[in-house]
Amino acid sequence: MRYFAQFRAGLGELVIDALRRDLRSVKVVSSDGSSLIFDAGTDPSTIGNLGYLKNAFSVLGMIRRCSAQRAAEQFAEQVLSTPMLRRQGRTSFRTMVSVDGRLLGLPRPAKTRLESAIAKATGARPSPRGGGVEYWLIGRRDVESMLFCQRLTTGIKPGAAGSLGADLAMLLVMASDPRPDDVFLDPFAGSGSIVRARMALPYGRATYSDLAAGAPYLQVPSAIRRRARVTVLAEDALELPSISSGSVSSIVTDPPWGEYDRLDVDFAAFARRMMASFDRVLQPRRGRLVLLLSRRAAEVTRGLWPSANLRLVQSHQLLVNGHSASAQIGGRLPRVG
Ligand SMILES: C[S@@+](CC[C@H](N)C(=O)[O-])C[C@H]1O[C@@H](n2cnc3c(N)ncnc32)[C@H](O)[C@@H]1O
Repeated sequence: MRYFAQFRAGLGELVIDALRRDLRSVKVVSSDGSSLIFDAGTDPSTIGNLGYLKNAFSVLGMIRRCSAQRAAEQFAEQVLSTPMLRRQGRTSFRTMVSVDGRLLGLPRPAKTRLESAIAKATGARPSPRGGGVEYWLIGRRDVESMLFCQRLTTGIKPGAAGSLGADLAMLLVMASDPRPDDVFLDPFAGSGSIVRARMALPYGRATYSDLAAGAPYLQVPSAIRRRARVTVLAEDALELPSISSGSVSSIVTDPPWGEYDRLDVDFAAFARRMMASFDRVLQPRRGRLVLLLSRRAAEVTRGLWPSANLRLVQSHQLLVNGHSASAQIGGRLPRVG
């Protein structure tokens, strides 16, 4: 099946990687900074539940790029003359139009023609207030086609102020190759967005730790405090005294970048101690690490992976709230001999 997905600008590399991990036979047809068209051998309900996509649609039809009015007329004909809506249930629906990122209204005759065709093909009734199926006519600046789509998602919820956002947190977790028996740690957990994303998938144990946990400005969310097999700590990530050596299988974390948050030492010294601490707590054979850093901080940590007995496998360039950032992904070095 063909799908159209929108995501937060700047997360494209991580999104494509996550889709390749989550879905069967993914083939990217086209992509721009905040959306992509792809084919996948996975059913629409699975795509609709991917927490890191802002919006996902199944593509029911594609025609050459033209005006929204002309597209509505052509899709109305296709709806009546082809089985494209064959499997749609009898429920209410509404139609929406988005061209080059702007919501548009269709001229009344074209809208009526499209909605009458959908009603005839499906037996469903138009309901302009929504609540039923949404059919979208979509045009994108860099795509030579107009798409006729069914919406699969209701959109991601924004995270707490200063937190990463549920979509990016989930993408970072997916990049860590999560496993059901993982002993997971976020040692700079802040609002807990990464821990929450990790708890949404099967895990063995999880630890939330942040030096400021419990401070008036950083209360640990009850969804984390009350969860089974989750430990909450307020420890220095450079020491982690409660965590035994070699006990953690996966760290996914967003440390201070040394640019927007003050550190007592320079970032290079901080990063050296952080990587030594991660080397101590990560399992010697299976340990995996995903770091989110500013582009500048990532230049510093890049050279520190080998000395922490870790291999940096991939670096993805991202935009996080308009700031250039990198996601560094890797794990223990393969054993020789
Ligand atoms: C960039 S924020 C993490 C934000 C988090 N990912 C979120 O979504 O809310 C970095 C966090 O590291 C914590 N922190 C700073 N230095 C620390 C240290 N040495 N050990 C543990 N936590 C520390 C800060 O309190 C802050 O919450």
